[in-house]
Amino acid sequence: MANSSSAAGKGYTFVDHKFDVVVVGAGGAGLRATLGMAEQGLRTACITKVFPTRSHTVAAQGGIAASLANMGPDNWQWHMYDTVKGSDWLGDVDAMEYMVQQAPAAVYELEHYGVPFSRTEEGKIYQRPFGGHMTQFGDGPPVQRTCAAADRTGHAILHTLYGQSLKNNAQFFIEYFAIDLIMEPDGTCTGVVAWNLDDGTIHRFSAKMTVLATGGYGRAYFSATSAHTCTGDGGGMVARAGLPLQDMEFVQFHPTGIYGAGCLITEGARGEGGYLVNSEGERFMERYAPSAKDLASRDVVSRCMTLEIREGRGVGKNKDHIFLHLDHLDPAVLHERLPGISESAKIFAGVDVTREPIPVLPTVHYNMGGIPTNYWGEVLNPTADDPDRVSPGLMAVGEAGCASVHGANRLGSNSLIDLVVFGRAAAIRAGQVIDRNAPIPPVNEAAVDRIMHRFDRLRHADGKAPTAYLREKMQRAMQEDAAVFRTQETLEQGCRRISAVWNELEDIKVSDRSMIWNSDLVETLELENLMANAIVTVYGAEARKESRGAHAREDFSARDDVNWRKHTLSWLAPDGTVTLGYRPVHTETLLPVAEGGIDPAKIAPKARVY
Ligand code: FUM
Repeated sequence: MANSSSAAGKGYTFVDHKFDVVVVGAGGAGLRATLGMAEQGLRTACITKVFPTRSHTVAAQGGIAASLANMGPDNWQWHMYDTVKGSDWLGDVDAMEYMVQQAPAAVYELEHYGVPFSRTEEGKIYQRPFGGHMTQFGDGPPVQRTCAAADRTGHAILHTLYGQSLKNNAQFFIEYFAIDLIMEPDGTCTGVVAWNLDDGTIHRFSAKMTVLATGGYGRAYFSATSAHTCTGDGGGMVARAGLPLQDMEFVQFHPTGIYGAGCLITEGARGEGGYLVNSEGERFMERYAPSAKDLASRDVVSRCMTLEIREGRGVGKNKDHIFLHLDHLDPAVLHERLPGISESAKIFAGVDVTREPIPVLPTVHYNMGGIPTNYWGEVLNPTADDPDRVSPGLMAVGEAGCASVHGANRLGSNSLIDLVVFGRAAAIRAGQVIDRNAPIPPVNEAAVDRIMHRFDRLRHADGKAPTAYLREKMQRAMQEDAAVFRTQETLEQGCRRISAVWNELEDIKVSDRSMIWNSDLVETLELENLMANAIVTVYGAEARKESRGAHAREDFSARDDVNWRKHTLSWLAPDGTVTLGYRPVHTETLLPVAEGGIDPAKIAPKARVY
């Protein structure tokens, strides 16, 4: 339902909409949530700044983890152990259990929706090995758990979920940029304000439930596998709404980004038998991770590669990267299972993978942190007395959210399963908590005025610092100071540099004042979102005096469970001040052992070796 009205003050035209649910973002999590809501007959809108099938999930290559046991023995308890260990014991146990238990059903559901998975000889879904996924609670060899559609799994999932959402009458608002959440004084979210990039109109979406599925903020860094659209828009909106972000210091570097270009070469390449070598031709991962070798967890492999380069054993003229060999594999296997990365290697590295190694380097890939939620996707607004307090009317799923199933480090292929399991869970929960007979909340005019004031200020910003200049300063500081290895000195420097960029935002310059396809203004709104994510990342990292998962400190090289097995919460004030707090990790399992649940002793913290 849409009504037009003239905006108070600034001369903007508003178009008003009323829905039961508005989902922001149309990647895997946003589409799975949209589909689940629409299937239940909830009036559902999905707002997206790019066409749904161009969302960043399209770039997810290697696959989706689920213990189907199609290629050999497997079960959800082994998957759970690997996920807990992969998280370096920071993930919430209830959320991890929910995800791995639901995973097989979620994958079969995708199959029935129409995802064209690769097949075994017997016609079952094909599964490949991925880093950190093992048998026998980590004591056995790698397991083939990652369900794949060649190396274009995310692409296949997106197309299927978009088609199914349309079939179920979800309404899409494509190339709309979500500016900010509409928040009531009591903290309830009642919708979102968005800008239609195509005709310049401003849209006020009122809804009983708003779901943020806006993805990660990889573009806060200079070199990332993430699309240019990965600008942490949900995190920015949440921070401006006065809500905290969680565990933002944990940023994943994927071991195999193409050197120079940053494009992803899937971990599935190593799953299919690829291996890394240094300048001496040595398969160095055998030295660091004798059991899992090249299929150790991502944080581990990225650190080993960085150490090899630091110690002078990098390859190339500047000895600053590593080689990934696939040239020993059967060309038919490369053609059938890794066609996408064979093409990427040719285009972005000029390499024929059947003959030459691919030059690779650890590259920013994923944000473990995000908007804190429970395992139903409900956003949390914790207090000291109630660390699990729900923020009414607001959900977050996918990379934007932090349930937290990945803790300090995510296992490869646990992202796609996170998207579909928690997109589905959010829809189930929304079906329970939304009162279908209640009226849709009215627009809070005062909240919208504040949102439009900020928008208008940026649109007419006439300072001296162009957006691209400030963005590059932010990206270089993050790349250099919040890197694979960190120290007190680099992190303090990172805090100073990012705070300085924050202060320079006052002096930003936007050249284009138009409302139609104003990419200058879009990039400026995105930069403010990126900066909100970046600043809490460095401050959270500086404060955490231990090494855990992707947060590797040279000055505090051990994990410290006594003092630091807790989630970081970070609140951001408008002046750029970051306030940190902490909330406990959930350590209780869901299912009792007597009912087939995992023995808690199996997942108790211990040394993390591969
Ligand atoms: O390596 C990959 O295919 C990436 C998968 C993931 O991040 O889960």
